[in-house]
Amino acid sequence: MMNVVASLLAAALIAATGCASANESGVRLDPAPVRRLDVDSLQRGARNFVNYCLNCHGAQYMRYNRLTDLGLTEDQIRDNLMFPTDKIGSTMTAAMSKADAAAWFGTPPPDLSVEARVRGADWLYSYLVGFYRDEKSVTGWNNLVFPNVVMPHVLWHLSGAQKLVKTEYEDQEKAEAGAIAARGLALAEPVADGKWTVKTLAQDTPGEMSAIEYKAFVADLVNFLDYIAEPVRNDRIMIGIVVMIYLGLLFALVYALKRSYWKDIH
Ligand code: HEC
Repeated sequence: MMNVVASLLAAALIAATGCASANESGVRLDPAPVRRLDVDSLQRGARNFVNYCLNCHGAQYMRYNRLTDLGLTEDQIRDNLMFPTDKIGSTMTAAMSKADAAAWFGTPPPDLSVEARVRGADWLYSYLVGFYRDEKSVTGWNNLVFPNVVMPHVLWHLSGAQKLVKTEYEDQEKAEAGAIAARGLALAEPVADGKWTVKTLAQDTPGEMSAIEYKAFVADLVNFLDYIAEPVRNDRIMIGIVVMIYLGLLFALVYALKRSYWKDIH
């Protein structure tokens, strides 16, 4: 019986760690340092989203006035985050029309309201740090997490350009060990003759930000995308904390009461 329980636990553990580190395409994602309750990070993320993403992507389930959740006043939202033609109660719609986007890119940029729930924060973070130079692609960029993506690397002047680095391994096991050792984004793929290659990225030309600054910029952005995917989650976490404190206090009181009732009997 214990053996069965132990193997079930082991299987669950393997499944859980497997999901966290590699997704179905064999990419080892770079974990996103998302801090849900960090209001400063969320405010910076909102600014980054409006400045760099809202040209093409909307967030149709997010209303501007909801951003007061992040400690911003309606005037701050109006002055810093909105297109002048929008109303404070309107949703965050993309500047570009769907028809133009479809004509320019072939694939229209998807709405990003619930993207963090679809793809997960680690995927989003890895995607935004996963662009590299590829002269063969139409935009001049490719992505380790989303091969042949048609979105151009719109943040490239901040990040600078990365290049692809390929390392060959004799077999899958060695390649996977190599991908883990790369510490960060890595893609293990089979090549000819049973050999494997691990693709990683290296800085080629510098951008306006250092690698650390760029990662912090992307972390704020992903934090914001994670927030808009479920804005009430922060309230839920706070309510949970309050309930736990309440139950803790109640337990202490009830325990004290119990001791007082039984005092004379024992
Ligand atoms: C110039 C227009 C443009 C801008 C600006 C832009 N994107 Fe995109 N984005 C696209 C297009 C087009 C696609 C569709 C790519 C495809 O399917 O190959 C896309 C795809 C994506 C995807 C993948 C969606 C999916 O799940 O398939 C994510 C995530 C994304 N963009 C995030 C962002 C973020 C975050 C920003 C701001 C930093 C941004 N984009 C700025 C055009 C843009």
